[in-house]
Amino acid sequence: MLTFLADAETTEAFGAALAPALMPGLVIWLSGDLGAGKTTLTRGLLRALGHQGSVKSPTYTLLEVYAVSRIALYHFDFYRFNTPDEFLEAGLEEYFGGAGVCLVEWADKALPYVPPADLEIHLQVAGDGRAARVEAHSPRGIECLKHVTLPC
Ligand SMILES: Nc1ncnc2c1ncn2[C@@H]1O[C@H](COP(=O)(O)OP(=O)(O)OP(=O)(O)O)[C@@H](O)[C@H]1O
Ligand SMILES: [Mg+2]
Repeated sequence: MLTFLADAETTEAFGAALAPALMPGLVIWLSGDLGAGKTTLTRGLLRALGHQGSVKSPTYTLLEVYAVSRIALYHFDFYRFNTPDEFLEAGLEEYFGGAGVCLVEWADKALPYVPPADLEIHLQVAGDGRAARVEAHSPRGIECLKHVTLPC
């Protein structure tokens, strides 16, 4: 699935489009360079789920936890890892494999320990906007994509 996101509002709308498609335990990797729009997409998803507070980048905290719409959503950012071992040292595997939905920025910095993605969303700067590519990597990811209607 490929789409062009002309501005930050469209990136948020794209995130919002994932809301009806979430299922317990889903793991979504958000990949792409610094500033590609990964946190913006997460913000749109959380707003669509009914979260009214701020949505901060977990760059310094590693993890922001949200409880919205009767689901737990864990938003990770591993950019600042010096080694993948920090994933284990921080005890983060306990968040995966349960009912919570995990969104992971910079998952590659926690390989091979971070669990694999059901869905990978790759964002890339393209002119003044962003190009988005979505890939399903598991049966659950494929099922999830059936419920996503692109905003653009
Ligand atoms: N489709 C878009 N077109 C133009 N600007 C966008 C788009 N989507 C997001 N942005 C802008 O890009 C900037 C960076 O966004 P964001 O913080 O979400 O990136 P990120 O991928 O999470 O970066 P990092 O890797 O540093 O965490 C923000 O100013 C945001 O408004
Ligand atoms: Mg970010």
